[in-house]
Amino acid sequence: MAILINDDKKIFTLQTRNSTYQMKVGDFGYLYHLYYGKRIDHQDLSYLLYDGPSHFAPYPYESKNRVGSLTLMPQEFPTVGTGDLGSVALDVENADGTRIIDLKYKGYEVLDGKYSLTELPSFYAHDNDAQTLKITLVDVVSDIEVELYYGVFEDKDVITRAVVISNLSENAIQIKKAQSLSLDLISGQYDLIHFHGRWADERNFERVPLTHNVTTFGSDYGISSAKENPGFILLDKNTTEETGNCYGFNLVYSGNFQATAELGTLEQSRITLGLGDNEFSWQLDPGAMFEAPEAIMSFSSTGLTQLSHNFHDAIRENLCRNKYINGPRPVLINNWEATYFDFTGKKLLEIATAAKDIGANLFVMDDGWFGKRSDDNSSLGDWFVNEQKLGCSLNELVTKINTLGMEFGIWFEPEMVNEDSELYNAHPDWVLNFPQRKPLLSRGQMVLDMSKEAVQNYLFDRISDVLDSANVSYIKWDMNRPITEWYSKSLTDKRQGELQHRYVLGLYKLLGRLTRRYPDVLFEGCSSGGARFDLGMLAYEPQIWTSDNTDAINRLKIQYGTSFFYPISTMGSHISASPNHQNGRVTPFETRANVAMAGTFGYELDVTKMSDADKKQAKTYTDFYKRVQEMTFNGDYYRLVSPFDRNNDVMAWQIVSKDKSQSLVTIVATDVVGNPPFVYIKLRGLKSDAKYKIKNHIYSGDALMNAGLKLMQPKGNYPSEQIYIEEASNSK
Ligand code: GLA
Repeated sequence: MAILINDDKKIFTLQTRNSTYQMKVGDFGYLYHLYYGKRIDHQDLSYLLYDGPSHFAPYPYESKNRVGSLTLMPQEFPTVGTGDLGSVALDVENADGTRIIDLKYKGYEVLDGKYSLTELPSFYAHDNDAQTLKITLVDVVSDIEVELYYGVFEDKDVITRAVVISNLSENAIQIKKAQSLSLDLISGQYDLIHFHGRWADERNFERVPLTHNVTTFGSDYGISSAKENPGFILLDKNTTEETGNCYGFNLVYSGNFQATAELGTLEQSRITLGLGDNEFSWQLDPGAMFEAPEAIMSFSSTGLTQLSHNFHDAIRENLCRNKYINGPRPVLINNWEATYFDFTGKKLLEIATAAKDIGANLFVMDDGWFGKRSDDNSSLGDWFVNEQKLGCSLNELVTKINTLGMEFGIWFEPEMVNEDSELYNAHPDWVLNFPQRKPLLSRGQMVLDMSKEAVQNYLFDRISDVLDSANVSYIKWDMNRPITEWYSKSLTDKRQGELQHRYVLGLYKLLGRLTRRYPDVLFEGCSSGGARFDLGMLAYEPQIWTSDNTDAINRLKIQYGTSFFYPISTMGSHISASPNHQNGRVTPFETRANVAMAGTFGYELDVTKMSDADKKQAKTYTDFYKRVQEMTFNGDYYRLVSPFDRNNDVMAWQIVSKDKSQSLVTIVATDVVGNPPFVYIKLRGLKSDAKYKIKNHIYSGDALMNAGLKLMQPKGNYPSEQIYIEEASNSK
């Protein structure tokens, strides 16, 4: 049983295979958080609660002995105005101007399966692999009810959370802040790992100690952003990849978000995660309800690798939806870095023909096929095929590519518009902009008001027309600028604070309509590379372009940071030209291939210009990738050497099939020295008592994991080595 209730003591325990989460209705009906950590069976943990004096801290009026201050007690869902002086999860302004919501326990329900949200994406259950606990809290004065949902995926060691706020009163209230997750840990000293970055340098790993200052990070970019990712980790000081306690948190959301982490006055730790509250406010009318996005959390007592595996398994199996997630994913060739805007149908066909020979089976036509777009100054919004540029209709081009035996994919940037476009001329009021002011431009473009139904309908019709006109099997859904003008003409002045969230709801509505209508089309997310790499997008698009930076060496850090939460099967990763277009670095073909193989593999270069030697190598790599794709996508990922560790001149990772019969190890040298030592790497995740074959040698699992493998002596420019390992009895 995943959910255990002690009705007498009002204790709620969520049990997963290796973790326990416990809450209790405490003094005066407040819901306290007791514990989240390594699994504990049959224990009321309320003895951990603070029962000392409140001193000068504010305590509830009903408290006869001056105890029970909410700033000292661990809260399940801290709220404004109740004497909790940390970062609260819920802040409202009532109709009379008061800033208080005092939530007390009302009741609970245990539901079979996993709850879902009405307007937001969320994790889903298979064959009852999840159970739901719903706890209802109420403020009896203002008549506001809050439902806390917990989705318990027992076998996956994952718990999801959602919050639904209902206004049962006669008056509208303003929600000023609504977080999806708050967690108070009574004891412990923690570090925080978060993933920050910028364009072409996404998801850098940073580990910092938790302090008494509130650490706040998030995004005000309108997208989850390259600046910070919503996924972050709290961990014991001594936790490593292989040992120690750690907690991971992430949000199923693609817009502005905010996370906080702080130490309280009694050294308790609090973290919160949810919608960004900068400029946010939401009018909740009488009878209305508000859903906060879903959050997901997991705990591992055996280090960061296990934490990542928990997230990877849940994301692959309980979030991504698409026919491609269980079958082979195509190897794509994208023409962006091959041609940029400068192409014709003939050129595209030449690239596709050459790419077919190296084993690619999906050709993707990137930016520049629509309106009169020949650079990035015009035509976004005019999703009409430029037949003059292609020299034929889309259907003719797709038919030719299909005849080669390749599928066809196409690029869109639906949320955007250029001033120089038919769409802008017809509907200047569809753009997000402040009245009487000139908009800020970014890459020469403006953002459409996705909260508007007319905009959603226009995009649905335009995209559907293109998809219906030819045999298109893939869409790259791009979004290339931050959103800065939060003003919609369809909202009243008082409701402008709702726009940030309404934008994301509009985007999800459109994506939901399109993915339902075209269930066989593979969607890949993109946002100037990886600026919207989040669980919200992954619910619709099972793969995301990880970064516009295709340099294999820079990618080591980007893919390493991304791997903490997101599985290999979600990370778009391509072989591009050398010298690299972003940083000019020269790398050998095999290193570019080995790095691209740790993702949804593809090519992003002019194949017609590749040397015969490179083409031959490419075909070998593509064939090998297809052979091991099932293992790399569904297996377990191990970070062996960190690229953020300055003491290392190599980076290494390993993928192991779930049955531990196959594995792939990759090392890449990021620097070389004179008289180099051999690189020795200890492998992980194998069966210690099994025999494994590497090339023509047999090793025991024990030896590979404890003594390690002797690998190359790195020489030359960024050499790399990839080793395929197979259980000896399984070798064919
Ligand atoms: C963004 C994407 C690229 C490419 C260009 C096209 O930068 O990240 O992959 O599609 O847009 O304009």
